[in-house]
Amino acid sequence: MKTLFAHRGMSSLAPENTLSAFSIVKSHGIGWIECDVDVLADGTVVVSHDDTLDRCTDKTGSLYALNQSDLTTIDAGSWFGDEFSGEPLPTFEQLIELVNEHQLNINVEIKSCAAGWPMTLKLIDGVIKGLEQLSPTSELLVSCFNHLALAEFKRKQPHVDVACLFEAEDFGHDWLSSAQSCSASAIHLNDLSVDKETVARIKAAGYRVNVYTVNDFARANQLFNWGVDGIFTDIGHEFPSRYRQY
Ligand code: G3P
Ligand code: MG
Repeated sequence: MKTLFAHRGMSSLAPENTLSAFSIVKSHGIGWIECDVDVLADGTVVVSHDDTLDRCTDKTGSLYALNQSDLTTIDAGSWFGDEFSGEPLPTFEQLIELVNEHQLNINVEIKSCAAGWPMTLKLIDGVIKGLEQLSPTSELLVSCFNHLALAEFKRKQPHVDVACLFEAEDFGHDWLSSAQSCSASAIHLNDLSVDKETVARIKAAGYRVNVYTVNDFARANQLFNWGVDGIFTDIGHEFPSRYRQY
């Protein structure tokens, strides 16, 4: 069975990384979500791709200057559509509650915190705390572009499956040492850096391969035929139903 990850939730149907976007995943026959997490000044972990409010909310400015009490003033939905007006910027805790309620599996992408290593550690510790509430029946995969941060997470949570993320331009001959340094079990690649030989090489070394972000079904099919295990997509609801049974 190939895995479809609902990238940032059902992000073509609802504002990305919001509770609305995650709450409709299961009803479209998809069992896995991918979410991005970052941290506020007070250590609250939030679900957001960007480290500023600029693109996906009605406010501007850095996440790292906010505290949890500021979240009540933020609208993370109306940029996407009037019907999502008032959508909150979710905390990781709120997302985990939803994941438990909907019996989803979750890939948590730890954003490499641009505010420096102390904030990265705060983020990692906040993620670990949030994951304590995750139902043991949910499958969990933690990923990060920053492999030092990922290795630190794995050191603290050796039982959790982790995946090394690579930007297209950063995927090179040293991918294996990165994977080994994190004790990763999967490699997450940008679609632009994926060819048949690359997939074969990574699979032969014993790793799973998941590819982001694939919004074209023909390409997804090609990747699956090459042995790719999963894809991150914004349009999982458009995939044939045989891919959408969890
Ligand atoms: O985790 C896969 C994918 O989400 C990585 O890229 O920028 O969409 O977080 P990005
Ligand atoms: Mg992501």
